[in-house]
Amino acid sequence: MVPKYGLNMEKIICETPRLILREIQPGDLDPLMSIFGDAEVMRFSVSGIKTPEQVVKIIEGALKGYARDGVGPWAVVLKESGELIGECGILVQMIKDIKEYEVSYRFAKKYWGKGYAAEAAIASRDYGFNVKSLPRLISIIEAANSASIRVAERLGMKYESDDLFHGIPVKIYSLKNPRIGGTIIRRILPSDIEPLERLFFRTVRQINVRDYTKEQVEAWAPANGDFDKWRKSFEGKSVFVSEEKSVVSGFCELEPNGHIDRFYVSADRIGQGLGRMMYQALEQEASVLKIRRLFAEASITAKPFFEKMGFTVVKEQVVNVKGIAMTNFVMEKKLPQP
Ligand SMILES: CC(C)(COP(=O)(O)OP(=O)(O)OC[C@H]1O[C@@H](n2cnc3c(N)ncnc32)[C@H](O)[C@@H]1OP(=O)(O)O)[C@@H](O)C(=O)NCCC(=O)NCCS
Repeated sequence: MVPKYGLNMEKIICETPRLILREIQPGDLDPLMSIFGDAEVMRFSVSGIKTPEQVVKIIEGALKGYARDGVGPWAVVLKESGELIGECGILVQMIKDIKEYEVSYRFAKKYWGKGYAAEAAIASRDYGFNVKSLPRLISIIEAANSASIRVAERLGMKYESDDLFHGIPVKIYSLKNPRIGGTIIRRILPSDIEPLERLFFRTVRQINVRDYTKEQVEAWAPANGDFDKWRKSFEGKSVFVSEEKSVVSGFCELEPNGHIDRFYVSADRIGQGLGRMMYQALEQEASVLKIRRLFAEASITAKPFFEKMGFTVVKEQVVNVKGIAMTNFVMEKKLPQP
């Protein structure tokens, strides 16, 4: 069997648009040396460049850490080539006798400046919060390491304090697990297909019907959903789902060209901040994908929400849905360069 992404029986932690994060293996020594053995890559690492013997120890330590802590430094593999281009993950650190979880990242020089660090770090953060339920994450960064500070900010981290780490002055950045508030935003899972179809149906029929006729909402969200067609309709998109106590409460979709397709919150949870939370995840994804312009065909119902998120109306239009005419608004938002 040809292994996916050149991997064979390796434990995959998570997948992003361009990357796979998986557990490090003994066979990774050579590509890891091109990272840990490079003085420029290791400029801001407290213990400097590493010898092959030291990297073997790092690999052994990672394997033990996976078993002991369920987290560790993971190998970052470029999907298109199967190449190991960096390491990124969650390290256990003791700071003033308190156990902290640090998001750490390090990439081979030739892959700098392409947004891979932020993409991998965001995936590690989400794994730490959503899968491991860590209460908070930190980053330990030397003040002069501005690239690393930018990645921490992209993670949503805020500066917390100045500290000493192995005798070196550092800045601590941190972020609390938003799941503690009860809601998580995550990517779609196969088990979401049916509940999301019902959510869509109910929201259109109960909420959008305030702004559209019965005939219009029946064309928009027909009864007797075709789940296979519905499942296929999510392919090729970044889909974010809000979940509370294991129940899905909303979803939104981003296409690679910046088009926000469906964006729905459960009828009983409208106006309680879920739309904003999902939008933030979507805009973060757009930034990773280097999308410069987001646009949507917003319903009359959703127009004020998109305005709040910084969108402006390009034009009002009448579209034809299964032979029924309905009004919506082409809206757009230009995103700042990261
Ligand atoms: C559009 C939708 C996704 C927004 O989600 P939501 O969870 O209700 O939105 P939030 O509660 O996060 O609101 C975020 C901000 O937008 C504002 N807002 C949202 N809907 C609004 C409305 N109808 N009128 C005025 N302001 C509105 C909120 O007041 C809030 O502002 P604040 O943070 O300054 O207080 C949701 O209302 C929905 O599912 N609507 C029906 C489906 C639909 O039309 N989808 C779009 C198809 S194109």
